[in-house]
Amino acid sequence: MSAGKYEGRTVLVTGSSRGVGALLTRHFLDEGAKVVGVSRGAATCGHERYQHRQADIADTDAVQQLFAALRRSGTAIDIVINNAAVLTSQYALVMPASAARSMVELNLLAPFMVAREAAKMMRKTKWGRIINISSMAVALEPEGDSVYAACKAGLTTLSNVLARELAAFNVTCNTLGITAIESDMLRQLPRDKIDAVVARLPLPRYASFEDIANVVDFFASERSGYVTAQTLYLGGVH
Ligand SMILES: NC(=O)c1ccc[n+]([C@@H]2O[C@H](COP(=O)([O-])OP(=O)(O)OC[C@H]3O[C@@H](n4cnc5c(N)ncnc54)[C@H](OP(=O)(O)O)[C@@H]3O)[C@@H](O)[C@H]2O)c1
Repeated sequence: MSAGKYEGRTVLVTGSSRGVGALLTRHFLDEGAKVVGVSRGAATCGHERYQHRQADIADTDAVQQLFAALRRSGTAIDIVINNAAVLTSQYALVMPASAARSMVELNLLAPFMVAREAAKMMRKTKWGRIINISSMAVALEPEGDSVYAACKAGLTTLSNVLARELAAFNVTCNTLGITAIESDMLRQLPRDKIDAVVARLPLPRYASFEDIANVVDFFASERSGYVTAQTLYLGGVH
């Protein structure tokens, strides 16, 4: 059997228990990686190369404790997938401040903390890939998604600045803006609203997991060392 393309690599996936994060976790495991998965809830994956860490990464102290525990166990992260996010889709006039704050803390502050703590490990090994999962909402700016879309837009800026700061350590930072794909997050939205958005995409269909994995693999590739500070949207969104 040929070695998987991620053999020897350790990947940290936030939001690994469900949806896109669970699919990416399985993908990296299938390709030979060790995976550290993070979510608030219990593990949903059982695999000899998978270790689960329960943490609320919206809490900055919890992120630091998570990385301290990884260091203690001798685990060094090579690839980060900043995937966990929360969506409250509501018009600004009725959006509770607490929901807005939760989105900022999980969708923007947590990726910063996770990337920063992982970069401390990558600086030592002089190799790293930080990949942020963003959304078509940045470009489409849908009503109800002001804070969500702003956080995802901020993720691109965050990634671009980190790309400069970490370039000397051979660490790249890129962002993938995905379109609609079946998940708990998607199911909380009215289906007719999503279908209408998807119908207006240049490529008017839902994303498949292969569409996502294709770009994640590109950003994570050994051969993509000269690709950084890029944001790529699926489906023709720009
Ligand atoms: N699905 C779509 O159509 C779509 C479209 C565009 C962009 N996206 C983006 O794609 C990514 C994945 O979305 P998804 O649809 O797969 O989401 P999802 O189904 O809602 O899954 C979210 C994951 O994040 C974890 N999580 C939530 N809050 C957390 C916290 N505070 N700390 C740690 N983990 C936490 C959840 O586990 P616990 O609840 O156990 O913590 C779960 O594993 C997100 O960045 C999202 O913005 C999705």
